[in-house]
Amino acid sequence: MKYLITSALPYANAELHLGHVLEIVQTDVWVRHKNLNGDQAYYFCASDTHGTPVMLKAKQLKIDPEDLVSDMKRNHEETFANFNVNLTNFHTTHSKESEDFVYDIFNKINDKGHIYTKEIEQLYDEKENIFLADRFVKGECPKCNSTDQYGDACEKCGTTYDALELINPISTLSQSKPVIKNSKHYFFALSEFKDFLKTNIDSFSNQAPVKAKLNEWLDGELNDWDISRDKPYFGFLIPGEEDKYIYVWLDAPIGYLSSIKHWCQNKNLNFEDLLNDKDTQLIHFIGKDIMYFHLLFWPSTLEASGFRQLSEVYVHGFMTIEGEKMSKSRGNFILADAALEYAEADFYRYYICSKLGNDISDIDFSIDDFVQKINSDLVGKFINIPSRTINFIHKYNESKIINNQTRLNDSFSNRFNQIIENTDKREYSKAIKEIMKIADETNAYISDNAPWNLAKNGKIKECLEVCSEAINVFYSLNTLLMPYIPNITSKVKKIMNNSDERYSAIFNTTLGELNEFSHIIKRLDIENFKGLIEINE
Ligand code: MSP
Ligand code: ZN
Repeated sequence: MKYLITSALPYANAELHLGHVLEIVQTDVWVRHKNLNGDQAYYFCASDTHGTPVMLKAKQLKIDPEDLVSDMKRNHEETFANFNVNLTNFHTTHSKESEDFVYDIFNKINDKGHIYTKEIEQLYDEKENIFLADRFVKGECPKCNSTDQYGDACEKCGTTYDALELINPISTLSQSKPVIKNSKHYFFALSEFKDFLKTNIDSFSNQAPVKAKLNEWLDGELNDWDISRDKPYFGFLIPGEEDKYIYVWLDAPIGYLSSIKHWCQNKNLNFEDLLNDKDTQLIHFIGKDIMYFHLLFWPSTLEASGFRQLSEVYVHGFMTIEGEKMSKSRGNFILADAALEYAEADFYRYYICSKLGNDISDIDFSIDDFVQKINSDLVGKFINIPSRTINFIHKYNESKIINNQTRLNDSFSNRFNQIIENTDKREYSKAIKEIMKIADETNAYISDNAPWNLAKNGKIKECLEVCSEAINVFYSLNTLLMPYIPNITSKVKKIMNNSDERYSAIFNTTLGELNEFSHIIKRLDIENFKGLIEINE
């Protein structure tokens, strides 16, 4: 099988935070896992560059939006690398490939008659000369009268509404009172795809809460989708227009395809062949806030334009910090790169995955828990195995492990397979729990057989056998952890003098001469975490 795998394109108006890392790591683990399994898996991403927030941010910084998005692309790409993510290609939606693709899809949909225009009324800021997107207007909720609510939905009572219904609306851009103004907009006839969506939901998602949400939407009224925005806007012009642009959410997912295409061009591969191969799966990892776009709009866009359909969308929940929603105003906002000043990337990867399952519940990041988990699992259980045994191998057997000493390793083989299966089902927390259970049992085996006593009593052969048994298991656990903590596991592989890149290594390990066991990881100290989160009281 070939897998073209994506995570959501990070929006180019800000740096990545720890919530983004959750998604990127979830994706990267799965890509690495597929490759360890012998499949061909590729990870594509890009900057999502268009829309009002980027335009306003550039204006505020007094730079061109083009410069902002190219700076941000570099920044995001670096953060991916800093978190040991094995990206195949990171592109940008502000590119020639994207532009060509977007027009191709727009024209195809338009030719088939799925696009129409209609005059609509919208709130307009006369000071800033701009139509106000829902996020740039606040007022009283028309249902419960709560103040300070955005133009799309009330955070207090959950009602969704049109911005025109807000009581006493205020533009958040100029603090002035907006007026109502007319404009012609382009609509994609989403309602025509209701039957298509209903029959295909089951193939797009296997996650019960996701399916429930989709059915709820499809059982209600499916509104046609406004795919145009008036100037000023940063994006691609609508064909034949001079002041109307394609809405960012139409061009954003097309960025998945243009990133794949861009890579194919650089590699001299045939993009169409790759995309349309019946053995190629197209898989998207996303957060639960953007399900509507990926499971209603995007498959309909593909269907309407005659492109291949996506295979599946995997949805995850949100990261919270110490039990609270991450937010700048609360002061618990953790930037991804800033987090790396406190602990190495693999530690965050491990911690996130130790809590991540195949559901869409939220995952909490708590510093106490983080420190405790790393110290108890990775240091106290995993690395403890070689640190208690490897010296005997060096001292008494010229650093050579006794390779056929695999009784213990063989006894775990069913459980190893189970772990691989759980990684495959994106039940990462279950996989990791079982890995640590086996590490525990291996440590108990070492304690029970006390190689240090065997050596003291001159039973060198027995001592070497016990240590070899333990190290063979350790090496299997290391292989199972490769998708999760790629940097630590590759250091271990160097020590073990082994370069296998397949799970199959677990079941027929032959370790060569071991290298000196140097320092691999160090315990975390909670005292050093002051400053990572400063909750504003
Ligand atoms: N640009 C759009 C996606 C376009 S995809 C064609 C977008 N960008 S985003 O930067 O706001 O979010 C990128 C991804 O990060 C989304 O999948 C979103 O759900 C995820 N997350 C944002 N905050 C998050 C957390 N606090 N926790 C987990 N994931 C989070 O949406
Ligand atoms: Zn309300």
